[in-house]
Amino acid sequence: MDKVGGVILAAGRGERMGAPLNKAFLPLGDRPLLLHSIFTFEAAAVVDAYLVAVSADEVAFCRALLAPYGLQKLVAVIPGGSSRQESAAAGVRALRDFGLVAVHDAARPFLSVELLEGAVRRAAAAGSPDLRAGRQGAAVVVAVPLKDTVKMVDSSGTVRETPARDGLWIAQTPQVFQRDLLLRAYAEAERDGFTGTDDACLVERLGVPVAVYRGSDDNFKVTTPEDLRIARAILEQRSQPDFLAPDAIARGGGKAPVSPVAQVAPAPPFRVGIGYDVHRFDPGRTLFLGGVEIPEGPGLAGHSDADAALHALMDACLGAAGLRDIGHHFPPGDQQWKDAPSLALLADVRSILAASGYLVCQVDLAIAAETPRLAPYIDAMQQRIAAVLGILPGKVGIKATTNEGLGFIGRREGIAAWAVATIKELMSNEC
Ligand code: CTP
Ligand code: MG
Repeated sequence: MDKVGGVILAAGRGERMGAPLNKAFLPLGDRPLLLHSIFTFEAAAVVDAYLVAVSADEVAFCRALLAPYGLQKLVAVIPGGSSRQESAAAGVRALRDFGLVAVHDAARPFLSVELLEGAVRRAAAAGSPDLRAGRQGAAVVVAVPLKDTVKMVDSSGTVRETPARDGLWIAQTPQVFQRDLLLRAYAEAERDGFTGTDDACLVERLGVPVAVYRGSDDNFKVTTPEDLRIARAILEQRSQPDFLAPDAIARGGGKAPVSPVAQVAPAPPFRVGIGYDVHRFDPGRTLFLGGVEIPEGPGLAGHSDADAALHALMDACLGAAGLRDIGHHFPPGDQQWKDAPSLALLADVRSILAASGYLVCQVDLAIAAETPRLAPYIDAMQQRIAAVLGILPGKVGIKATTNEGLGFIGRREGIAAWAVATIKELMSNEC
């Protein structure tokens, strides 16, 4: 078989996603979306090498992003162009010494190894010497039959026509071609000033037959935030222990195949946050620390119950998730937080994290107070914090220390606290 090179396209802007980052780099499960296609190209036996096209200003970033993954077949990260067609042409031109090229949109993260290999084998067969007689080159587009009815709608929003659904297919990627043929198609399109939305249509313009290879509905393109939600739901479902891949169900059983690359991928999905808080003593108030009332006092000044330890802890949890701080979520001027028990705010923080897909794994706190003596209350703090966060008490560390008479703490002006929190993605089974 000819040498096979892959071109993975990620040089778009993801405008319809509306995210501050190119959608190819948005997280999907334990890795950026782009890495899903990359792992498939790594694992496909028929692919000898591949490159990735990203926009010129993201080349350095993308190289740094991919470096830790130990990718064996990645030969280059190149700058793409201002249209998909330009990016694809740049990629195919850069892949010298390859007889066949497979062009794939990074925006389709669920391309399976089987589909990629099947499409490449079909193209290789179509271009083989015995089949080549009378043909003008191998060209294969992965596609699925249309399931919905299509309407032609004019600019006033009125239906003009309902084309017959029979024979209508939705093009996907990969699209696999003899490299020479595809280079000719790009050159002719450029000469004619023609821009197409996929590669196959450029080959069709040459009058060369393009074979359809049956794709899969899972191989959909992530374009909008809704698509990303669906993609995340699919991943979550696949992470369930009893999940069977659709093709395995068709074969009558068997677990979903695990990519060999996925097994060596780095980055368990843990995140760590740090928090700090300090409150001045106010003898007129009751002292709360770590969610426990400490009758010896003195109390601490503040809008809520001024529990400096829990405030540091909440900031650590929010910080780990990249979700700002407590001042952002519970503004000090807001009457509803006046004298509020910080344990209730901690429960809210747990919900805020869960809504963003995170669970707290473990926390550690250090409290610096010259007075009162905190040792008798540490166990109670540990139990309460663990209960509110939904973790075992053994996953809550609490230390109290004096400040050896030094500084504002030593002068008994107030109490300071530091916290560290480890959180994980909800769908992960680690921790
Ligand atoms: N693409 C590319 N170079 C471009 C434009 C698009 O490599 N100049 C890639 C995208 O990164 C994506 C694929 O082509 O993987 C399909 O394009 P699309 O879904 O339209 O992605 P974007 O162009 O990034 O999204 P949008 O059109 O919403 O901006
Ligand atoms: Mg686009």
